[in-house]
Amino acid sequence: AAEEEVVGSVKGQLVQLFEASLRITVPDQTNTEPLIAACNPRFGDYQCNNAMSLWTKIKGKGSAFKGPQPVGQAIMTNLLPSEMIDTCSIAGPGFVNVILSTQWIAKSIQKMLIKGIETWSPKLRVKRAVVDFSSPNIAKEMHVGHLRSTIIGDTLARMLEFSNVEVLRRNHVGDWGTQFGMLIEYLFEKFPNMEVVSDQAIGDLEAFYKASKQRFDSDPVFKERAQHAVVSLQGGEERYRKAWSKICEISRQGYERVYERLGIGLEEKGESFYNLYIPGVLEELNQKGLIEESEGARVIKIEGKSYPFIVVKSDGGFNYASTDLTALWYRLNEEKAEWMIYVTDVGQREHFEMLCTAAKRAGWLPPADNSYPKASHVGFGLVLGEDGKRFQTRTSHLFGKGDEWTEEELEQTAEAVGYGAVKYADLKNNRLTNYTFNFDQMLNDKGNTAVYLLYAHARICSIIRKSGKDMEELKKTGTLVLAHSDERALGLHLLQFAEIVEEACTNLLPNVLCEYLYNLSEDFTRFYSNCQSDQNPSAGFAFSLRVSIATESAAVVAENILVDSVYGIC
Ligand code: ARG
Repeated sequence: AAEEEVVGSVKGQLVQLFEASLRITVPDQTNTEPLIAACNPRFGDYQCNNAMSLWTKIKGKGSAFKGPQPVGQAIMTNLLPSEMIDTCSIAGPGFVNVILSTQWIAKSIQKMLIKGIETWSPKLRVKRAVVDFSSPNIAKEMHVGHLRSTIIGDTLARMLEFSNVEVLRRNHVGDWGTQFGMLIEYLFEKFPNMEVVSDQAIGDLEAFYKASKQRFDSDPVFKERAQHAVVSLQGGEERYRKAWSKICEISRQGYERVYERLGIGLEEKGESFYNLYIPGVLEELNQKGLIEESEGARVIKIEGKSYPFIVVKSDGGFNYASTDLTALWYRLNEEKAEWMIYVTDVGQREHFEMLCTAAKRAGWLPPADNSYPKASHVGFGLVLGEDGKRFQTRTSHLFGKGDEWTEEELEQTAEAVGYGAVKYADLKNNRLTNYTFNFDQMLNDKGNTAVYLLYAHARICSIIRKSGKDMEELKKTGTLVLAHSDERALGLHLLQFAEIVEEACTNLLPNVLCEYLYNLSEDFTRFYSNCQSDQNPSAGFAFSLRVSIATESAAVVAENILVDSVYGIC
């Protein structure tokens, strides 16, 4: 008979087992979700924490139980026999500690080895998501905040893609708005013959922006012309459209170089894309009674906020908010996305809170935060220089301007280490905290850095290479026995990959995955130094090789999800 295939992470499988036990233990508490968590290794591998909260619900209601501990006892007794559990015990007020069967762990890794770690990808509730990230502003410098958004956004997209979510990677560039009147007018002034404007002629767009701003602020006649230019552009006049797309094009070349260097793919759908749809969307919101008049502007009042969400400025123009409302509408209705994820610095939190509240009032999103469709703001802290102040280096200085670095100069290894280091340093901290940009720390080979992980990975690869054996063959031969406690720890950690990715996706926290990788490297190092065949005859070299491969396969997948370059030098 074909073996019954169990699906889900270790945690997921335990949840199923405990769910069945809870139904028997407290039949009238039908909606109790099993609370399962990995626990302190001194007590076991996992813990079920339902007894306490169940007791508070049933006590005094004629329950036969005398306290939380007997509830825990009953949960334990009612567990159906399962090959995954070795032993259970009760601790404190009814915690059920679970020690997994070592044999089951070994068997499961072997399955993972043969079928590939992709078969362990978590199953999320959404099919399609938008990740709105990077999103620099045309003609302005792409600053380190945009770089953080780029790195975190790309990682979130990779994690979701690994979990079989279709991700629309959206670059919501700031390519619309009144600043273009000024830029276009300045362009006309500097280059009366538009046909000959080359990229070099404009050169540094940021300097161009500053110069035109200065002109705008100092000359009222120019200012008036610039204001007319906005109208001409928005009216679709050819000469103005052409100048606008020229400016966008030059800007785009700059930031695409950064994406290329970092190996990041995303599709530009800038603010201008949604412009056409704004009037219709605002009309819908107006008919729903959401839009009010306030000091000449049109606004949506948000409960609990001292000022409203302005959707039409007093001069009749649209703004950042009207564009974002429209983009949200478009993503929901035209692109049929169920999860909209916005990656910007925490400074924009309020804007997204207001956006979300407005969308809920319009009935576009359900009121509860844990149901879909859903909009989530992924905020991150500042990048600080070593002086503790805002990091001022321009992105172009971090990545070169393309012609400063030739491809030959960037040796592959240096590239992997360098970019991996920058990415990993950004990802490993909880994104909400500020982080200090420090090359020495990033490149430290002993700490929690990309370099350390690369080193661990290189070692794994070399073990496999030196064996002279064929990987595919090795995966299938023999049976794994996890004889040493360090082998067991490594094996269990490998199995926990699925639930870690799930947690990282659900809470949109890449650092959870980084921590997993770091611990994986440490577990491997411990295993490697303590379980050599001469010290541990029961294990043998062939075994340590196979575990190396298991570790390797987790690392390879993690590499795909996290950063190409962290593991890229092997
Ligand atoms: N361009 C904006 C900025 O640089 C970020 C855009 C974020 N995405 C969005 N849909 N609002 O601050």
